[in-house]
Amino acid sequence: MSVQPSNRFAFTARQVNVILEILFVVLILSGLGSWLLALDNAWIAATIHSIAGFMLVLMVPLKLRGSVMTGFKRGRLTRWLSTIFGLMLLSGIVLGWLHTTAIWWGIGYWSAMWTHLLLGFTGIPLFLWHTATRPSKPKLVDLDRRALLSAAGLAGAGAVVYGTQEVVLAATDQKRAGTGSHEIASFEPEKMPSMQWINDTAPRVDLDTWDLRIEGESVEIDALAEQTERMVAWLDCTDGWRSQQRWDVVPLDRLLSDRPGRSVKVTSATGYSRLFDRSDAKNVYLCFGYDGKPLQRGHGAPVRLVAPNRRGPWWIKWVVDIELTDRRAWLQLPFPAT
Ligand code: HEM
Repeated sequence: MSVQPSNRFAFTARQVNVILEILFVVLILSGLGSWLLALDNAWIAATIHSIAGFMLVLMVPLKLRGSVMTGFKRGRLTRWLSTIFGLMLLSGIVLGWLHTTAIWWGIGYWSAMWTHLLLGFTGIPLFLWHTATRPSKPKLVDLDRRALLSAAGLAGAGAVVYGTQEVVLAATDQKRAGTGSHEIASFEPEKMPSMQWINDTAPRVDLDTWDLRIEGESVEIDALAEQTERMVAWLDCTDGWRSQQRWDVVPLDRLLSDRPGRSVKVTSATGYSRLFDRSDAKNVYLCFGYDGKPLQRGHGAPVRLVAPNRRGPWWIKWVVDIELTDRRAWLQLPFPAT
């Protein structure tokens, strides 16, 4: 018996499910890609992300008319968990869109973008459970000509909606970065927001006792702060904003010895750390202030990293330790697990 397609994109219920599963994976990977790629290239991931998001929205009516209706008729108790998963996805999409269009930023800590990310990541275990308990079992016959043409039509429709949105946003003078981040408080560092990793809190800063160690040796912060040069760079936060400042910096490369070591490990007073490839040390800077003024506590005083062309999580604040290590930077998790 053949399963008749019952919608304008000519997909069967099984094809709808497979497409939605693929879109979910693409959304998570492209979202992460927009974090992990260099700022110059992140627009590619962000564009794929937006188009996939709109494709998913276009698929919602087909999903509701297909397996959602069947599932509710069947009446399994776990349909409520599936419903929660669906509602989380839809809320995440709406929040992502509200952020992109700058219609709503969220409330305080619960910014629209941060809540969007939280819903995306907490959706992963639910997605795995949902696909494991309701396997779509794709078949080769699913790749028929009609379905392929419909899939192309769906991608085209997603791209058209995205393109229209971008034209409208550009016409309303919205200058977003390729990462999707909106500009805020450029050259006004005192107004720049301060963010830290999920469970980090800004430490108390006592300049007299702050111990900055480079390759195991304590160094004088005051002496370093006198050697700074000024550079302009964007800080692009994964919370969806970016800010350009004149940072007072010393290149990290200048402070390191010739000792062997594949990577440079930079650690914050909070325990948060990241590895940089040794060859990248020339593009990473120790920063002591902006525009001749010392850093504020929330911005990483007394010393933080400036890592141009990388997203915010690489701009480590409250730096206490810099060491050479043979661990490979590319083998670390994309973001810290602690
Ligand atoms: C399956 C879960 C997710 C869905 C359904 C989803 C969907 C969306 C949608 C529909 C938008 C609005 C796009 C636009 O209006 O152009 C958006 C924006 C965005 N999302 Fe997600 N997303 C998900 C997960 C993630 C994750 C895990 C990340 C990051 C790790 C992420 C990062 C972003 C960013 C940076 C934007 C702003 C893009 C821009 O303004 O150009 N998303 N998302």
